[in-house]
Formats: sequence, structure tokens, C-alpha cells
Amino acid sequence: MDQPQEKIYIPHATAKAFTQSILTGNGVSPQNAKIIADCLVLADLRGVDTHGTNRIPSYMERIRQGVLNASASPSLTQITPVVAQVDGQNGFGFPAAQAGMARAIEMAREFGIGFVSVKHSNHFGMSAWVVQQALDAGMMSLVFTNSSPALPVWGGREKLMGVSPLACGAPAGKERPFILDMAPSVAARGKIYKAKRRGEKIPNDWALDAEGRQTDDPEAALGGVMLPMGGPKGSALAVMMDVFSGVLSGSAFAGHVTNPYDPSRPADVGHFLVAIKPDLFMGLDDFKARMDYLYQRVVGSEKMAGVDRIYYPGEIEQITHDERLKTGIPYVQAEIDALNQEAEKVGVEKIVL
Ligand SMILES: NC(=O)c1ccc[n+]([C@@H]2O[C@H](COP(=O)([O-])OP(=O)(O)OC[C@H]3O[C@@H](n4cnc5c(N)ncnc54)[C@H](O)[C@@H]3O)[C@@H](O)[C@H]2O)c1
Repeated sequence: MDQPQEKIYIPHATAKAFTQSILTGNGVSPQNAKIIADCLVLADLRGVDTHGTNRIPSYMERIRQGVLNASASPSLTQITPVVAQVDGQNGFGFPAAQAGMARAIEMAREFGIGFVSVKHSNHFGMSAWVVQQALDAGMMSLVFTNSSPALPVWGGREKLMGVSPLACGAPAGKERPFILDMAPSVAARGKIYKAKRRGEKIPNDWALDAEGRQTDDPEAALGGVMLPMGGPKGSALAVMMDVFSGVLSGSAFAGHVTNPYDPSRPADVGHFLVAIKPDLFMGLDDFKARMDYLYQRVVGSEKMAGVDRIYYPGEIEQITHDERLKTGIPYVQAEIDALNQEAEKVGVEKIVL
């Protein structure tokens, strides 16, 4: 067994200010830098460290190689009263998806539903931040994205589909909101990158190596394929993300999205964002009371042997969020070093001196 590495705790406000300074130092506008930093730090706070500030070095490398346009701002075209399209202009995926969900929310307020397709975008990290944006406006949401090939289709052996997350949410009353955010693989590929960064092993059922053998070595796993959850069902969900995010939007699809760690060409990611007003068929209080009842039924369900507590989708991440607001965000030294190297490159203050 690997020894757990010592953690260095950084307050979230420090991580946010650091991220913004690295981004603006690389040519991102202050407005977009704030959106991106908020999303990355929210991922770290929710315990989704695989999709948080540790992504900075790979994102900055894409800017340095000229395959991601740091200064781009998304443009929006209204297609019908309830449908709009965002062109991410090959800028960061975060401002493109944020602008898309903001417009979807406006349309949902007026018409009950708003749907936005996003093209020519990039990786937007943890999908749950887009769901949270909708929740903050009192809206239900669907948030899909496609991503670079990592997963074989069922029966195949080559990387073809992305480990593309499916996310959705719904507000509640006094109980926690529903937030589902899941990749269609046994585990998100970011968890393998994280294990590699931290010198840790991975469970045997996450991936196959290049020879098609099970492996606990993250390096070997990255050279092979991720395994879909639930066999053909996980593989079908990955195809679904590509239909709605890639085919429909006009972005890359069918294995042609570029990996965020590959700085050789633009990614051309597509997203699919829907906001739904929850009080369409009953009053808002009724809807919220029904969501509260659902929460209570789920977490109050009879537990299987060995289980102490049943969690609602998104609940573990919300608990971690509240804890990390107090404790700070845990990093290992190798992660701090990588972030500080980025600070040196643009001459801004390090995250830890
Ligand atoms: N942008 C991209 O291209 C991309 C690609 C892959 C993954 N991701 C992100 O990676 C993150 C991790 O994905 P994942 O599939 O590994 O997530 P996960 O397996 O950790 O969680 C999936 C879902 O299951 C719920 N869950 C987990 N444990 C639970 C429990 N014990 N009880 C009840 N519910 C539980 C979580 O709340 C979550 O909604 C997500 O935020 C996803 O958006 C992004």
C-alpha cells in the first residue's frame, strides 16, 4: 500500500486569487478569469480535486501552444424563443457554458424551458458547477458535454467515446438539492491523472492497459482504455453525450475531440444545456415539498448490511464543500510545485511561498 502523502491546506480564497492571477497573467480577461477560478475552486471545495485548480498547468500549456484562445469571449445567437447557440470561439469552456446556462435560465423564466447548444468550446471541468448555476437561479437543469476519446464502445478495444459526464439538478425546499454529476466510466479519467500526480495506485477495475489487461498502475491505464460503467449501458450513455453535445451542436464528435492534456490542436468540445422552471405544473411550494419528501424517503431508506448512512446524489460533495470552506483545500507538495511553476512563468505570487 502507498503511504498517504502529507496534505498542505490552502484557504479557498487564496486558491481563487492565485488562479485568477495565473489566468490574467496568461492573457485571460479579468471577467473570464473570475468565472474560471470560481468553477475550479468550487470543484476543489466539493472534493472533485480531479477537476479543480490542479488542471491549471495543462490548461496553460494549451494557451502557450496556441491551441486555446485565452482572450476569446463566447458569442450568442438566438435560434428560437427557447433555443440559443453559443460559439465558444475556442476559448475556455467555463465562460462559454456559463454564458449558455445564463441564457437558458432567462428563457426558462419567460417560457418555462430554455435550451442552449455550445460549440467550439473547451473542457469545462466539473459539470456540477453548471448545475449549481441553475440551482442558484431556482432552476432544474440538464448539463451534458462530450470529451476526448478514452472509452471503447461496448465490444470494442480502441478509445472512441469520451468519458463524458451526464449531470442534472433540481432544487428542494429545506432539504438538499438533487445534483447528479457522473462520468459513464467506472471512474472519471481525472482520478487516474490525480493518482499519477500523487504517486498512488488505482483500483483494478477502472481501466485496461495498452495490451487489454487490468492494471492498478495509473501510467499504464492512461496508455490503455477506461472501462465503461455497467458494460454496454455506460458505453451507450457516452454515445448519448456525443449525440446531444457533439453531433447536434456542430462541434467535433465520434472520437475527434482533443484531450485537454494534448496541446497539439484545438479541442472543439460541444455542450448541451437545458434549464427548466420547476413550478410548471404546480406551485413552487408544492414542488419543493415533493423534493423534500423524495430526499427524506431516499436517505431514510432501509440500509443494507454494513452501511451507516445513505446519501442523496450530490450530498457527499456538499458535505465536503462545507468542511473545506473551513479547513481549506488539501494539496500534495507535487501539486503545489506544479502550480508554483506556473506562477514563475508569468511572474505572479506563488500559491505557497
Ligand atoms: N468535463 C469533462 O470532460 C469531464 C469528464 C469526466 C468527468 N468529469 C467530471 O469528473 C467528476 C467526477 O465524475 P465521477 O463519475 O467519477 O463521479 P463520482 O463517481 O464520484 O460520483 C458520481 C455521482 O454519484 C454520486 N455519489 C457518489 N458516491 C455516492 C454515494 N455513496 N451515495 C450517493 N451518491 C453518491 C455523486 O454525488 C455524483 O452525483 C464529475 O464532476 C464530472 O463532471 C468531467
